[in-house]
Amino acid sequence: MKKLIKGGTIVTAADMYQADVLIENGIVTAIGTAFDETGVEVISADGLYVFPGGIDPHTHLDMPFGGTTTKDDFRTGTKAAAFGGTTTVIDFCLTTKGRPLKEAVETWHEKARGKASIDYSFHLMISEINDDVLEELPQVIEEEGITSLKVFMAYKNVFQADDSTLFRTMVTAREHGALVMVHAENGDVIEYLTNEALAAGNTDPIYHALTRPAELEGEATGRAAYLTALADSQLYVVHVTCAEAVKQIAAARQKGYRVFGETCPQYLLLDQSYLEKPDFEGAKYVWSPPLREKWNQEELWNALKSGQLQTIGSDQCSFDFKGQKELGRGDFSKIPNGGPIIEDRFSLLYSEGVCKGRITLNQFVDMISTQSAKLFGLFPKKGTIAVGCDADIVLFDPKVERTISAKTHHMAADYNPFEGMKVTGEPVSVLSRGNFVVKDKQFVGSSGSGQFIKRNKFLR
Ligand code: URP
Ligand code: ZN
Ligand code: ZN
Ligand code: ZN
Repeated sequence: MKKLIKGGTIVTAADMYQADVLIENGIVTAIGTAFDETGVEVISADGLYVFPGGIDPHTHLDMPFGGTTTKDDFRTGTKAAAFGGTTTVIDFCLTTKGRPLKEAVETWHEKARGKASIDYSFHLMISEINDDVLEELPQVIEEEGITSLKVFMAYKNVFQADDSTLFRTMVTAREHGALVMVHAENGDVIEYLTNEALAAGNTDPIYHALTRPAELEGEATGRAAYLTALADSQLYVVHVTCAEAVKQIAAARQKGYRVFGETCPQYLLLDQSYLEKPDFEGAKYVWSPPLREKWNQEELWNALKSGQLQTIGSDQCSFDFKGQKELGRGDFSKIPNGGPIIEDRFSLLYSEGVCKGRITLNQFVDMISTQSAKLFGLFPKKGTIAVGCDADIVLFDPKVERTISAKTHHMAADYNPFEGMKVTGEPVSVLSRGNFVVKDKQFVGSSGSGQFIKRNKFLR
């Protein structure tokens, strides 16, 4: 049956206007007014914004990490994402040295299959470049539509790759139309500082931040940007946290390099002092890179506003406080890194960004959806509302106020890093390819209805 979203205000990265949206077979087929409503399901959007579905370019669902596995999997994670207004996630597919890439991709397909209630794709982690990888990689890019490759410059002896691997990944990405992503921190120096801190008996969560200073993020970001220029390739820096890294990205862009950056709500809104909360509660705020001194937040907002940073990812990587974060009691280096953010990414950016006058409504849509669609080969199928697009649509009440809490969130993790925070605005209903996933704030989707999306190559 055709659906008509009627009476709302359509907001895209470029426009804002009142019109109705006609949906047929999961696709937007017309936008206008005074449609014939016979045989059409009419959905009232009076007083609501009609946004393109959020695209979360950075999630870790069902991922083994830090001696445990993330609490949220594709079932709980995508359901929570939908409640929060996100209709597509791009998750990180881990690979294992010496094993075929396709085996890793199949493992990730298996994690998502039958569980995802919204659409998804994968980024592929690259930890080594050898003849086998060079032979397989173009096939994975072509056949799976996995057009983004992630290299970790940190997590020594776990995920970290060396500069030769990074550089060769950049060269290969240029040849085959992929975007290289980096976790930019200097893992070698972090290992040294961590060992020093532990040897001195400094084991509390705050030392996680103190052993990963902003200089090491700035250095790695700059290094990756220079290597990108040398390889004539393209780079996306995930989870940018600080002025040092922003400076490197802005300088690279100024020179005309294809360098892009993402930040996350936690870096815009929380700061290093959270790691000092008593009773080990600081462990809830352990991310890598770490939360920074508060003054960095304004630098990040300004970088978003001026276009030096383009996207907002959640870096969803959730662990329970009880039993998981607690693995690091007495040794901060054993605290699993990450937090539950997938559900609140969209609302936090709206409330703290738009409502507080830091970004415009169009910039909000651009950062939460459109830019990720463009960079990761989903546009124009996703990332905007126009004739021919997937009907991934969020009906958003801009006035309602609510308080974020683990008691009411839909993520599986037992705490919320934004507990008690008041936000303005909330998704009322969410459609994925024309089907309701959330209707009047109730989940009506089904695990398994989310589709794997093959993405286009990086457009340069
Ligand atoms: O602390 C974080 N960011 N956890 C997730 C893994 C990563 O580095 O993105
Ligand atoms: Zn496959
Ligand atoms: Zn990372
Ligand atoms: Zn991450």
